[in-house]
Amino acid sequence: MKSPPIAKTPCKAMHFTELHFHLLPGVDDGPADMEEAVELARTAREEGTRTIVVTPHVRAEYVTDPAELPDRAGSLRRELAREDVGIEVHVAAELGHEMVAELSDEALDSVALGPTAARFLLMEAPFFGPADGFHAAAEELRSRGFGVLVAHPERSAGLVAGGLAGVLEELRRGSRLQVNAGSLLGAHGSEPAQAGRAIVGAGLAAAIASDAHGTHRPPLLTRGVEAAIGCGLPSGSAHRLASAGPAELLLRGVPEARLPAVSA
Ligand SMILES: [Fe+2]
Repeated sequence: MKSPPIAKTPCKAMHFTELHFHLLPGVDDGPADMEEAVELARTAREEGTRTIVVTPHVRAEYVTDPAELPDRAGSLRRELAREDVGIEVHVAAELGHEMVAELSDEALDSVALGPTAARFLLMEAPFFGPADGFHAAAEELRSRGFGVLVAHPERSAGLVAGGLAGVLEELRRGSRLQVNAGSLLGAHGSEPAQAGRAIVGAGLAAAIASDAHGTHRPPLLTRGVEAAIGCGLPSGSAHRLASAGPAELLLRGVPEARLPAVSA
């Protein structure tokens, strides 16, 4: 019996870019070793991904000194090149909001993305509790010159409560939103699925990402694009969430947008 063909991206000219992906080995709950990391990167490449931003957890139980991450990413890049995987690696972090006050501007910048004038950080939306601490940390980042990309807002009970009130507030303050492909597929439960589909269906997401962790949580962008189409997006817009959308965030960044001035 013939094995099924490897899924191809709908548009070969526009490759996928992953903005949230646990690919650094041995630092968090992502791949345990370099061998698993290479296998994971290869799976992403077969899906049509050419760029992966590695985003290890920066929070108390994992990495607390983000300055160590660029060197670790360098080791990964060398191994991927040696294995001819064909993935471009950028280094960042999935920043716990409680870490913002603990880290220097220099430490934050070591895991920020985007051009000099519009550096931004991927900050993890907390799963439980009210969103006040998250909003305060996002405001602190903006006040220190960094834009904010919210990691999986749909998984945060505090941000989605009250008809996505906290999500809309972050958008109003200038944050961009990254929705997990797995959420759209129901992998994180019914409430994140509902919230994620509402965010994507309303055109509020800047990107979808796999938030891959290993063979147990693999790359999902092909299925994520299909799920975004299922949310009501035109095919091109759905594909853009996994390709041009994240690529443009890397290129142009996220300005530390402030609330718009009220005209007299
Ligand atoms: Fe993550």
